[in-house]
Amino acid sequence: MVLDQSRARHVAIIMDGNGRWAKKRALPRAVGHQRGVEAVRRLVRALEGTGLECLTLYAFSSENWKRPDEEVDDLMNLMRKFIKSDLPEFIANDVKLKIIGDWQSLAPDIVAMLEDALAQTANGKQTLAVALNYGGQHEIARAAAKAAAGGGEVSIDTIAAHLDTADLPPLDLLIRTSGEIRLSNFLLWQAAYAEMLFVDTLWPDFEPAHLLQALDDFARRERRYGGR
Ligand code: IPE
Ligand code: IPE
Ligand code: MG
Repeated sequence: MVLDQSRARHVAIIMDGNGRWAKKRALPRAVGHQRGVEAVRRLVRALEGTGLECLTLYAFSSENWKRPDEEVDDLMNLMRKFIKSDLPEFIANDVKLKIIGDWQSLAPDIVAMLEDALAQTANGKQTLAVALNYGGQHEIARAAAKAAAGGGEVSIDTIAAHLDTADLPPLDLLIRTSGEIRLSNFLLWQAAYAEMLFVDTLWPDFEPAHLLQALDDFARRERRYGGR
């Protein structure tokens, strides 16, 4: 199969700006997070039209536990609600759910819901990877430890083979919303040669059209991978 190099296969998004979206409207942060979930839903509904093999979304970082308990609870409850309400749609739309990060240490009821959702979507065609309790440094450290435990060589290939994303296509494009220009511990390894796009749009305002525009921009970029 000849791959069209200009077409993105795997896009990841750092969904940032829910709090500022709410603050601008003098609304509670929780409302910003709710509207953020709606932006996710719109994007998942538009996934087929993007032609992507995988969309990876940063939903909760391993550092987000530092937030006040009330906000962490709101985020976890939104997660519960979202899985319950949207799982039938994932199944109907052939979306295959994948979770990256230390999700197995989340609350047991969330872990059970996620396991069920993973099983029910296992045959889906396009992957929606959600990063939950995810930190890139930890992911690399875990992968390196597993590679070493195998007794063989610890190399780029053996580490990559143990990353949470080992079964996903290479990352083509990493987008961050809300104007911050940093990775915040997201996909550090995978971003080695990904294209980057930082947009000012706050996450709740992010529309499928923004993603389609980003894919269009991506198609015009020249990737060199160190060559010339
Ligand atoms: C992103 O929005 C959602 C999560 C990190 C869970 P924020 O809550 O970080 O919003 P800002 O950055 O404060 O605007
Ligand atoms: C990154 O956003 C994490 C997610 C989007 C889930 P943060 O808002 O937590 O990042 P910092 O604190 O601004 O770096
Ligand atoms: Mg933020």
